Amino acid sequence: MSDVDAIVADALAEFAAVHDPAALENVKARFLGRTGRITELLKGLGKLPLDQRRTAGGRINEAKASIEQALEARRAALRDADLERRLRAEAIDVTQPGRGAGNGGLHPITLVRARIEALLRSMGFDVADGPEIESDFYNFTALNMPANHPARSMHDTFYVEGGSHVLRTHTSPIQIHYMQSHRPPLRVLAPGRVYRSDSDATHSPMFHQVEGLWIDETVSFADLKGVTIELLQKFFERTDLAVRFRPSFFPFTEPSAEIDMSFGEGWLEIGGCGMVHPNVLEHGNVDSSRYQGFAFGMGVDRLAMLRYGVDDLRLFFQNDLRFLRQFA
Ligand code: FA5
Ligand code: MG
Repeated sequence: MSDVDAIVADALAEFAAVHDPAALENVKARFLGRTGRITELLKGLGKLPLDQRRTAGGRINEAKASIEQALEARRAALRDADLERRLRAEAIDVTQPGRGAGNGGLHPITLVRARIEALLRSMGFDVADGPEIESDFYNFTALNMPANHPARSMHDTFYVEGGSHVLRTHTSPIQIHYMQSHRPPLRVLAPGRVYRSDSDATHSPMFHQVEGLWIDETVSFADLKGVTIELLQKFFERTDLAVRFRPSFFPFTEPSAEIDMSFGEGWLEIGGCGMVHPNVLEHGNVDSSRYQGFAFGMGVDRLAMLRYGVDDLRLFFQNDLRFLRQFA
Protein backbone atom coordinates (compact mmCIF):
# COMPACT_ATOMS: atom_id res chain seq x y z
CA MET A 1 0.00 0.00 0.00
CA SER A 2 2.33 2.72 -1.25
CA ASP A 3 -0.49 5.20 -0.60
CA VAL A 4 0.24 4.95 3.14
CA ASP A 5 3.98 5.45 2.69
CA ALA A 6 3.32 8.54 0.56
CA ILE A 7 1.09 10.02 3.26
CA VAL A 8 3.80 9.47 5.88
CA ALA A 9 6.40 11.06 3.60
CA ASP A 10 4.09 14.06 2.98
CA ALA A 11 3.47 14.48 6.70
CA LEU A 12 7.18 14.41 7.53
CA ALA A 13 7.95 16.96 4.79
CA GLU A 14 5.17 19.30 5.89
CA PHE A 15 6.13 19.07 9.55
CA ALA A 16 9.70 20.01 8.65
CA ALA A 17 8.53 22.98 6.59
CA VAL A 18 6.64 24.80 9.39
CA HIS A 19 8.39 26.92 11.95
CA ASP A 20 5.79 27.87 14.47
CA PRO A 21 3.68 25.74 16.81
CA ALA A 22 0.27 26.99 15.60
CA ALA A 23 1.09 26.16 11.96
CA LEU A 24 2.32 22.74 13.06
CA GLU A 25 -1.03 21.99 14.71
CA ASN A 26 -2.83 22.92 11.46
CA VAL A 27 -0.66 20.48 9.54
CA LYS A 28 -1.38 17.80 12.11
CA ALA A 29 -5.13 18.29 11.55
CA ARG A 30 -4.71 17.61 7.84
CA PHE A 31 -3.31 14.15 8.63
CA LEU A 32 -4.73 13.08 11.97
CA GLY A 33 -7.79 15.33 12.35
CA ARG A 34 -11.39 14.23 11.98
CA THR A 35 -11.18 14.51 8.17
CA GLY A 36 -7.40 14.01 8.00
CA ARG A 37 -5.84 11.71 5.41
CA ILE A 38 -5.01 8.94 7.91
CA THR A 39 -8.43 9.18 9.50
CA GLU A 40 -10.08 8.86 6.08
CA LEU A 41 -8.06 5.72 5.39
CA LEU A 42 -9.16 4.20 8.69
CA LYS A 43 -12.77 5.03 7.87
CA GLY A 44 -12.33 3.23 4.50
CA LEU A 45 -11.21 -0.01 6.17
CA GLY A 46 -14.79 -1.20 6.56
CA LYS A 47 -15.20 -1.31 2.78
CA LEU A 48 -12.27 -3.72 2.31
CA PRO A 49 -12.82 -7.45 2.11
CA LEU A 50 -12.34 -9.10 5.49
CA ASP A 51 -9.11 -10.91 4.58
CA GLN A 52 -7.37 -7.59 3.66
CA ARG A 53 -8.67 -5.56 6.55
CA ARG A 54 -6.25 -6.89 9.13
CA THR A 55 -3.04 -6.19 7.20
CA ALA A 56 -4.28 -2.87 5.87
CA GLY A 57 -5.36 -1.82 9.36
CA GLY A 58 -1.97 -2.76 10.74
CA ARG A 59 -0.12 -0.68 8.14
CA ILE A 60 -2.34 2.36 8.60
CA ASN A 61 -1.88 2.22 12.35
CA GLU A 62 1.90 1.97 11.92
CA ALA A 63 1.77 4.99 9.61
CA LYS A 64 -0.36 6.85 12.16
CA ALA A 65 2.15 6.01 14.90
CA SER A 66 5.11 7.26 12.89
CA ILE A 67 3.28 10.50 12.02
CA GLU A 68 2.45 11.01 15.71
CA GLN A 69 6.03 10.35 16.63
CA ALA A 70 7.32 12.81 14.02
CA LEU A 71 4.77 15.37 15.21
CA GLU A 72 5.95 15.02 18.82
CA ALA A 73 9.58 15.38 17.74
CA ARG A 74 8.77 18.50 15.69
CA ARG A 75 6.82 20.01 18.58
CA ALA A 76 9.82 19.49 20.85
CA ALA A 77 12.19 20.94 18.27
CA LEU A 78 10.05 24.09 17.88
CA ARG A 79 9.82 24.47 21.67
CA ASP A 80 13.60 24.22 21.97
CA ALA A 81 14.15 26.67 19.14
CA ASP A 82 11.76 29.13 20.79
CA LEU A 83 13.50 28.80 24.15
CA GLU A 84 16.85 29.23 22.44
CA ARG A 85 15.61 32.39 20.70
CA ARG A 86 14.27 33.85 23.93
CA LEU A 87 17.44 33.10 25.84
CA ARG A 88 19.40 34.90 23.16
CA ALA A 89 17.02 37.88 23.00
CA GLU A 90 16.72 38.29 26.76
CA ALA A 91 20.36 37.62 27.53
CA ILE A 92 21.96 40.00 29.99
CA ASP A 93 25.54 40.91 29.33
CA VAL A 94 26.92 41.08 32.83
CA THR A 95 30.15 42.56 31.48
CA GLN A 96 28.38 45.76 30.26
CA PRO A 97 29.18 48.82 32.37
CA GLY A 98 26.23 49.80 34.63
CA ARG A 99 23.97 52.76 33.90
CA GLY A 100 24.57 54.00 37.45
CA ALA A 101 22.07 55.22 40.03
CA GLY A 102 21.58 59.00 39.86
CA ASN A 103 23.46 60.85 42.57
CA GLY A 104 21.19 62.19 45.26
CA GLY A 105 21.84 65.55 46.82
CA LEU A 106 21.03 67.41 49.99
CA HIS A 107 18.29 70.03 49.98
CA PRO A 108 19.68 73.60 50.04
CA ILE A 109 18.02 74.24 53.42
CA THR A 110 19.71 71.13 54.81
CA LEU A 111 23.05 72.30 53.42
CA VAL A 112 22.65 75.73 55.03
CA ARG A 113 21.52 74.29 58.36
CA ALA A 114 24.47 71.89 58.44
CA ARG A 115 26.85 74.72 57.63
CA ILE A 116 25.54 76.94 60.46
CA GLU A 117 25.66 73.98 62.81
CA ALA A 118 29.27 73.23 61.93
CA LEU A 119 30.31 76.89 62.37
CA LEU A 120 28.63 77.24 65.77
CA ARG A 121 30.00 73.90 66.95
CA SER A 122 33.46 75.15 66.07
CA MET A 123 32.76 78.04 68.48
CA GLY A 124 31.98 75.57 71.26
CA PHE A 125 28.18 75.36 70.94
CA ASP A 126 26.42 72.13 71.85
CA VAL A 127 23.45 70.98 69.66
CA ALA A 128 19.94 70.53 71.12
CA ASP A 129 16.49 69.65 69.84
CA GLY A 130 12.91 70.07 71.02
CA PRO A 131 9.34 69.09 70.10
CA GLU A 132 7.58 70.65 67.09
CA ILE A 133 4.23 70.42 68.88
CA GLU A 134 4.90 72.55 71.91
CA SER A 135 2.86 73.38 74.97
CA ASP A 136 1.58 76.91 75.33
CA PHE A 137 3.87 77.21 78.37
CA TYR A 138 7.15 76.55 76.51
CA ASN A 139 6.24 78.44 73.34
CA PHE A 140 4.89 81.55 75.12
CA THR A 141 4.51 81.71 78.92
CA ALA A 142 8.06 80.63 79.84
CA LEU A 143 9.33 83.15 77.29
CA ASN A 144 7.72 85.97 79.22
CA MET A 145 4.52 86.03 77.15
CA PRO A 146 1.78 85.18 79.68
CA ALA A 147 -1.76 84.44 78.49
CA ASN A 148 -3.29 87.46 76.76
CA HIS A 149 0.10 89.19 76.39
CA PRO A 150 -0.14 91.30 73.22
CA ALA A 151 3.24 90.00 71.96
CA ARG A 152 1.60 86.63 71.31
CA SER A 153 -0.16 88.19 68.35
CA MET A 154 3.24 88.85 66.71
CA HIS A 155 3.19 85.13 65.92
CA ASP A 156 0.36 83.95 63.67
CA THR A 157 0.00 80.72 65.54
CA PHE A 158 -1.39 77.32 64.57
CA TYR A 159 -3.15 76.11 67.70
CA VAL A 160 -3.75 72.41 68.27
CA GLU A 161 -5.58 70.40 70.90
CA GLY A 162 -8.02 73.16 71.73
CA GLY A 163 -5.29 75.74 72.35
CA SER A 164 -3.24 74.01 75.04
CA HIS A 165 -0.59 73.19 72.42
CA VAL A 166 0.77 74.94 69.33
CA LEU A 167 2.93 74.13 66.35
CA ARG A 168 5.97 75.91 67.73
CA THR A 169 6.23 79.38 66.23
CA HIS A 170 9.98 79.68 66.90
CA THR A 171 12.91 77.64 68.22
CA SER A 172 13.12 79.75 71.40
CA PRO A 173 11.19 77.20 73.55
CA ILE A 174 14.27 74.95 73.20
CA GLN A 175 16.11 77.54 75.34
CA ILE A 176 13.80 76.65 78.24
CA HIS A 177 14.06 72.87 77.75
CA TYR A 178 17.84 73.12 77.62
CA MET A 179 18.20 75.38 80.67
CA GLN A 180 15.91 73.07 82.66
CA SER A 181 18.06 70.05 81.87
CA HIS A 182 21.59 71.55 82.01
CA ARG A 183 23.47 73.61 84.56
CA PRO A 184 25.16 76.86 83.43
CA PRO A 185 27.50 77.88 81.98
CA LEU A 186 25.77 76.82 78.74
CA ARG A 187 26.36 77.38 75.08
CA VAL A 188 23.88 75.69 72.76
CA LEU A 189 22.46 75.87 69.25
CA ALA A 190 19.09 74.40 68.29
CA PRO A 191 17.98 74.15 64.67
CA GLY A 192 14.46 73.12 63.68
CA ARG A 193 11.22 73.53 61.77
CA VAL A 194 8.78 76.18 62.96
CA TYR A 195 5.27 77.18 61.83
CA ARG A 196 3.29 80.37 61.37
CA SER A 197 0.19 81.27 59.41
CA ASP A 198 2.26 83.40 57.03
CA SER A 199 2.81 83.24 53.28
CA ASP A 200 4.59 85.44 50.73
CA ALA A 201 7.94 85.65 48.94
CA THR A 202 9.85 86.00 52.23
CA HIS A 203 7.42 84.19 54.58
CA SER A 204 6.53 80.50 54.46
CA PRO A 205 4.00 78.76 56.77
CA MET A 206 6.72 76.21 57.63
CA PHE A 207 10.23 77.53 57.88
CA HIS A 208 13.44 76.92 59.77
CA GLN A 209 15.22 78.72 62.54
CA VAL A 210 18.42 78.12 64.39
CA GLU A 211 18.46 79.24 67.99
CA GLY A 212 21.64 80.21 69.80
CA LEU A 213 21.98 80.60 73.58
CA TRP A 214 25.06 81.47 75.64
CA ILE A 215 24.69 81.80 79.40
CA ASP A 216 27.56 82.53 81.79
CA GLU A 217 28.42 85.06 84.48
CA THR A 218 29.69 87.89 82.29
CA VAL A 219 28.38 87.26 78.75
CA SER A 220 27.52 90.67 77.24
CA PHE A 221 25.81 92.28 74.26
CA ALA A 222 29.32 92.76 72.80
CA ASP A 223 29.71 88.95 72.85
CA LEU A 224 26.35 88.66 71.09
CA LYS A 225 27.53 90.96 68.31
CA GLY A 226 30.93 89.25 68.15
CA VAL A 227 29.47 85.73 67.80
CA THR A 228 26.73 86.60 65.31
CA ILE A 229 28.96 88.74 63.08
CA GLU A 230 31.70 86.10 63.08
CA LEU A 231 29.09 83.44 62.29
CA LEU A 232 27.75 85.46 59.35
CA GLN A 233 31.22 86.32 58.04
CA LYS A 234 32.22 82.67 58.06
CA PHE A 235 28.87 81.61 56.62
CA PHE A 236 29.10 84.03 53.67
CA GLU A 237 32.90 83.70 53.43
CA ARG A 238 33.48 87.45 53.40
CA THR A 239 34.31 90.14 55.94
CA ASP A 240 32.75 93.13 54.15
CA LEU A 241 29.18 92.13 54.99
CA ALA A 242 26.46 94.74 55.35
CA VAL A 243 24.91 93.68 58.70
CA ARG A 244 22.93 95.92 61.01
CA PHE A 245 21.46 95.47 64.49
CA ARG A 246 18.13 97.29 64.52
CA PRO A 247 16.69 98.06 67.97
CA SER A 248 13.53 96.02 68.48
CA PHE A 249 11.37 94.28 71.02
CA PHE A 250 11.02 90.66 72.17
CA PRO A 251 9.39 89.86 75.53
CA PHE A 252 12.12 87.27 76.21
CA THR A 253 15.15 89.55 75.68
CA GLU A 254 16.12 92.98 76.97
CA PRO A 255 17.60 94.81 75.16
CA SER A 256 16.52 93.29 71.85
CA ALA A 257 17.50 93.75 68.21
CA GLU A 258 16.67 92.44 64.77
CA ILE A 259 19.60 91.45 62.60
CA ASP A 260 19.28 92.68 59.00
CA MET A 261 21.47 92.07 55.97
CA SER A 262 21.55 94.04 52.77
CA PHE A 263 19.41 92.37 50.09
CA GLY A 264 19.18 93.87 46.63
CA GLU A 265 18.01 97.46 47.05
CA GLY A 266 17.06 97.16 50.72
CA TRP A 267 17.49 95.00 53.80
CA LEU A 268 16.30 91.51 54.67
CA GLU A 269 15.67 90.61 58.29
CA ILE A 270 17.54 87.39 59.06
CA GLY A 271 17.03 87.05 62.81
CA GLY A 272 16.15 88.42 66.21
CA CYS A 273 18.43 88.59 69.24
CA GLY A 274 19.02 90.14 72.64
CA MET A 275 20.09 89.63 76.22
CA VAL A 276 18.00 86.89 77.84
CA HIS A 277 15.31 88.37 80.11
CA PRO A 278 15.73 87.44 83.83
CA ASN A 279 12.18 85.99 83.91
CA VAL A 280 13.20 83.57 81.13
CA LEU A 281 16.30 82.50 83.08
CA GLU A 282 14.12 81.84 86.12
CA HIS A 283 11.67 79.72 84.06
CA GLY A 284 14.73 77.71 83.03
CA ASN A 285 15.79 77.32 86.69
CA VAL A 286 18.86 79.50 86.11
CA ASP A 287 19.75 81.95 88.90
CA SER A 288 19.31 85.35 87.27
CA SER A 289 21.20 87.13 90.04
CA ARG A 290 24.33 85.22 89.08
CA TYR A 291 23.97 84.41 85.36
CA GLN A 292 23.24 86.39 82.25
CA GLY A 293 23.61 85.79 78.55
CA PHE A 294 22.37 86.28 75.05
CA ALA A 295 20.11 84.45 72.63
CA PHE A 296 19.42 84.75 68.94
CA GLY A 297 17.06 83.08 66.48
CA MET A 298 17.98 83.19 62.81
CA GLY A 299 15.86 82.33 59.80
CA VAL A 300 17.68 79.47 58.04
CA ASP A 301 15.60 79.89 54.87
CA ARG A 302 16.41 83.61 54.74
CA LEU A 303 20.13 82.79 55.04
CA ALA A 304 19.72 80.30 52.20
CA MET A 305 18.02 83.00 50.06
CA LEU A 306 20.96 85.33 50.62
CA ARG A 307 23.64 82.70 50.14
CA TYR A 308 22.21 81.37 46.89
CA GLY A 309 20.68 84.59 45.55
CA VAL A 310 17.11 83.22 45.56
CA ASP A 311 14.51 85.98 45.71
CA ASP A 312 11.45 83.87 46.57
CA LEU A 313 11.75 81.45 49.47
CA ARG A 314 8.74 79.41 48.30
CA LEU A 315 11.04 77.91 45.63
CA PHE A 316 12.74 75.94 48.40
CA PHE A 317 9.51 74.06 49.18
CA GLN A 318 7.98 73.45 45.74
CA ASN A 319 10.28 70.48 45.16
CA ASP A 320 10.87 71.30 41.50
CA LEU A 321 13.87 69.14 40.64
CA ARG A 322 15.09 71.66 38.05
CA PHE A 323 15.54 74.11 40.93
CA LEU A 324 16.86 71.64 43.52
CA ARG A 325 19.40 69.97 41.22
CA GLN A 326 21.39 73.19 41.12
CA PHE A 327 22.43 72.62 44.72
CA ALA A 328 23.21 68.90 44.56
C1 FA5 B 1 11.69 85.12 66.62
O1 FA5 B 1 11.13 84.13 66.21
C2 FA5 B 1 12.47 85.09 67.90
N1 FA5 B 1 12.23 83.83 68.59
C3 FA5 B 1 13.94 85.28 67.62
C4 FA5 B 1 14.77 85.50 68.83
C5 FA5 B 1 15.41 84.45 69.45
C6 FA5 B 1 14.84 86.79 69.41
C7 FA5 B 1 16.16 84.64 70.61
C8 FA5 B 1 15.59 87.00 70.55
C9 FA5 B 1 16.24 85.92 71.15
P1 FA5 B 1 11.13 86.58 64.54
O2 FA5 B 1 9.69 86.41 64.57
O3 FA5 B 1 11.65 87.91 64.13
O4 FA5 B 1 11.80 86.28 65.91
O5 FA5 B 1 11.73 85.47 63.59
C10 FA5 B 1 13.13 85.28 63.50
C11 FA5 B 1 13.54 85.10 62.05
O6 FA5 B 1 12.85 84.03 61.45
C12 FA5 B 1 13.18 86.31 61.17
O7 FA5 B 1 14.16 87.31 61.30
C13 FA5 B 1 13.20 85.69 59.79
O8 FA5 B 1 14.53 85.53 59.35
C14 FA5 B 1 12.65 84.33 60.08
N2 FA5 B 1 11.22 84.25 59.76
C15 FA5 B 1 10.19 84.71 60.49
N3 FA5 B 1 9.01 84.41 59.92
C16 FA5 B 1 9.32 83.73 58.79
C17 FA5 B 1 8.54 83.10 57.78
N4 FA5 B 1 7.20 83.09 57.81
N5 FA5 B 1 9.19 82.49 56.75
C18 FA5 B 1 10.54 82.45 56.73
N6 FA5 B 1 11.33 82.99 57.66
C19 FA5 B 1 10.72 83.64 58.69
MG1 MG C 1 11.43 89.64 63.45
